[in-house]
Formats: sequence, structure tokens, C-alpha cells
Amino acid sequence: MSFNFSTQRILEGTTNVWVPKVLSTKGPKTKKVDVFYNPTMEFNRDVSVIFLKRFIKKEQKSILDGLAATGIRGIRFANEVDGDLSVTINDANPIAFKLIKRNIRANNLENVIASNKKLNALLAERWYDYIDIDPFGSPVPFLSTAMQSVKNNGIIAITATDTAPLCGTYPKACRRRYQAVPLKTNYCHEIGLRILIGYVAKEAAKYDLAVKPLLSHYTDHYFRTYVRIEKGAKKTDKCLEKVGFVVHKENGFREVIKEIKEEDLTAGPLWIGSLFDEKFLKNLKIDISLGTKRRLERMLEVWKEEASAPPLYYSSDEIAKALKLSPPPLQIIIQKLRDEGYKATRTHFAPAAFKTDADIESIKEVFKITLNLTSTFSLPFQS
Ligand SMILES: C[S@@+](CC[C@H](N)C(=O)[O-])C[C@H]1O[C@@H](n2cnc3c(N)ncnc32)[C@H](O)[C@@H]1O
Repeated sequence: MSFNFSTQRILEGTTNVWVPKVLSTKGPKTKKVDVFYNPTMEFNRDVSVIFLKRFIKKEQKSILDGLAATGIRGIRFANEVDGDLSVTINDANPIAFKLIKRNIRANNLENVIASNKKLNALLAERWYDYIDIDPFGSPVPFLSTAMQSVKNNGIIAITATDTAPLCGTYPKACRRRYQAVPLKTNYCHEIGLRILIGYVAKEAAKYDLAVKPLLSHYTDHYFRTYVRIEKGAKKTDKCLEKVGFVVHKENGFREVIKEIKEEDLTAGPLWIGSLFDEKFLKNLKIDISLGTKRRLERMLEVWKEEASAPPLYYSSDEIAKALKLSPPPLQIIIQKLRDEGYKATRTHFAPAAFKTDADIESIKEVFKITLNLTSTFSLPFQS
């Protein structure tokens, strides 16, 4: 099977995959190749592999890698996830389809079929237990059909790389695509992810379907969420109670609200429920063979902490800046907030940020106390 670009065999997880030799990343010197492959998305794919391992139980599951490019994700599912799964790997691009077929053959996979259709057309044909949507940019064009093609209690896994609209750099694009208002703030990444999930919840509600996010993250400038879809009008009504707004106060305080007042600076509609399911995270297993194992271990620890945290994070820098002080160490702030009786956790959104249910004045107070404490115990600078 020949291609008009050179290919190379790479190993990701425990799977060998043929991919284009020239990378498909943007840049003035980058040659355009016919099939997309981005090695930096390995973390994204590793998460989906451990997710699927946790999701697959005894009964047969039908899996769709809907926008597959080289097919790397679906090939890895078929090769690395134990259990009775039938995998469909689809891409509308005929050259990608050719490469997908080569990768299926090279891995001797019998539980996989390649497909060369527009994703919405394929979704109209049958039902799946797990649908993976990993587009260029926004997943919006595929969500309505995905809702109509996912089985009860099935999963839709969604990537969005259009972070500029979702985080408020292009608010008009966000309004058009997601029918939501973003807010360019210190915590715009959490708002962006919540707008995406809120949109998914509203799209599901049209079909009396409720969504439950099991795992959602912001990583390397993309958003990713895995939502379980459950049938039922009552469940859907309950789910929609978790779609609301964020109000951003002048003093920097932020909170989620269900209804907006005109005078408030608000973002939304967006998801105000949890981004994770604690029980689901608890049983996620990270295999030793995964290329991003260390990063996954670190992230999983923070996701677990964050799963029970109140929404919306504060960066240490923004609070310190408001107080005209330098930020104290994060662990000390978190401990002090906990000592004062508040909830406080790290967040995966930013390394020097925290989540808490304390109000802004109490947060500032804790900063001042913490700085006094740390300066009392710190050693003088050496010359
Ligand atoms: C970002 S790439 C997918 C990357 C891949 N999931 C991975 O992990 O390497 C998006 C792919 O979607 C395909 N695509 C775009 N629009 C499509 C459509 N309407 N139906 C099916 N495939 C489509 C493109 O050809 C491209 O290969």
C-alpha cells in the first residue's frame, strides 16, 4: 500500500502504528501532509485507553473512533483494552482510510473495521456504547447525531481544541458555536470547559437524555470530557439544574448561580456540576506501559482531589497581586484554608492555583496570615 508521503512505525502504549513521517503541526516550515498525526496528543490518547479499560465490563461493547486520522486511538483500543469489544475506526479522508486499513492489518486485529464516511452519516446508521469525537477545533457539528446514536449508559468522549472562543478571546465565535458567553478571566479555562459540557448537556436534553461527566480535563490547550448518557425525562430535568452561570464580582470573587441578574458580569450558560465522578476515578488503573505514565499519575492525583472541590479556581498570583504581596507556597495556603474550616484543593487547571469555598475576604486574610508565618520562619537572603 503506497502513500505520497513517507511513513514511519511508532510505538504508543503497547501498540505499533504507521504514521506520516512529517508532522501535521502548524508552522511556516511545516509541509502539509494528507493524514493528521500529532504525537503530543499521546496523553489524551493514554487517558482514553485507561478510561475505556475502566468502562469495559463483561458484556460486549461497540466502540467508535469517529474522527480517526491514522486510526491510532481506535487501534490502541482494540489492541490494549481487554474484553469483548468491537471497534469501528472512521475517517472521511480516503487517504486516512487507507492508512487505517494498513494499521489494522499490521496489528492483526480481528475485532476492528475501518470506515470511510462522514461521521454524521455513519452515526445515523447504528448505535454505539462509546463514541470518540476528536475533531479539528469544535466538536459541535457532531454532538446532535452522537446523542441519537449512543446507547443508554453509553459514553461520548469529546475533545475541543477551539479554546480561543471558549476562553473568551473570540467571544462572538463562542456565542455562535456554543450559544454561550465566555469570560476572559484568570480562570477562563475552567469557564471554557464548563461551557463545552453545558452545551453537551443542552444538546442531550433535546432527546430526554441526561449527561454525567465522569472525567473532564484541560491539558496542553485543549479540553476533553467523557460524559455518560442516561435516558429519561426526569433525569434530564435534574441534569439541567446543573446548567447555570458564573458571576464575576468586581472584587475578584466568583460564584456559580442558577439565574442571572442584569447588573452582574456573567459567563454562561455553562455546567455548574462536578467535572468528575469520584468513584469512577478511584478505580482508574494506570498501566506501566503507558508513555505518559508519570504525568498521568500526577494528574490523576489532582483530579481525585479536585473531584470533591467547589467549582472555579483562584490563582495564587492574582490574590497576591491584589494584596501587593508575593504569593506564599501553594501547599501552605491550602493547609491554612483547611485549618480555618474551609474546603481547599489543588486544581489541574493551573499548577499555582487552588479551589476553595472560602469567600474572597477570607482568602485574602489567609494569604496575609500565611505570609506573616512564612516570613517569620524564612531565612534571610544570602549575598
Ligand atoms: C484531529 S484529527 C483526529 C486525530 C486522531 N483522533 C488522533 O488521535 O490522532 C481529525 C480527523 O477528522 C477527520 N474529519 C474531519 N471532518 C470529518 C467528518 N465530517 N467525518 C469524518 N471524518 C472527518 C479529518 O480527516 C481528520 O483526520
